[in-house]
Amino acid sequence: MTPKIKSYQNLVALVDALLDSEGDLIANLANVSALLFEHIDKLNWVGFYLKKGDDLVLGPFQGKVACSRIPLYKGVCGKAMQDQQVINVPNVLDFPGHIVCDHASRSEIVIPMVVNGHAIGVLDVDAPIFARFDDVDAQYLSEIVDLIIKKLPDAFNQEA
Ligand code: SME
Repeated sequence: MTPKIKSYQNLVALVDALLDSEGDLIANLANVSALLFEHIDKLNWVGFYLKKGDDLVLGPFQGKVACSRIPLYKGVCGKAMQDQQVINVPNVLDFPGHIVCDHASRSEIVIPMVVNGHAIGVLDVDAPIFARFDDVDAQYLSEIVDLIIKKLPDAFNQEA
């Protein structure tokens, strides 16, 4: 097992335990973003955007001040919402329609939060270096999003 996988397995266990101790959505998203920012190296921004009407609205995050509102299907976040798939962008400067929030960002991975077939938000993770993310990041960040959705059914039944 690689150190990266071991570190992610530890992180998944921490998120799992965190979600057992509190049922509030915002409190949990805030603490999950803090955990990810602390435990995953070479990041400049981690956070959640949640669907509200025709926009994605900024949720709990760690990093510099970011765009408060993104039109639903714009940018990398919007593409992940639309496709309901993880989007891994090795060079954000090459991504058509990328929305610049932190000028330091060079690569990014976005995981959609899909509940009952509906994308209700995203986890957005940004790095200040090119090609920061790989399939291991995609796998474990998706596992963390799945845990959030499975362990907070009451919070998401209202959103979906
Ligand atoms: N880069 C995103 C916008 C959000 S910020 O990175 C925090 C995008 O194009 O979807």
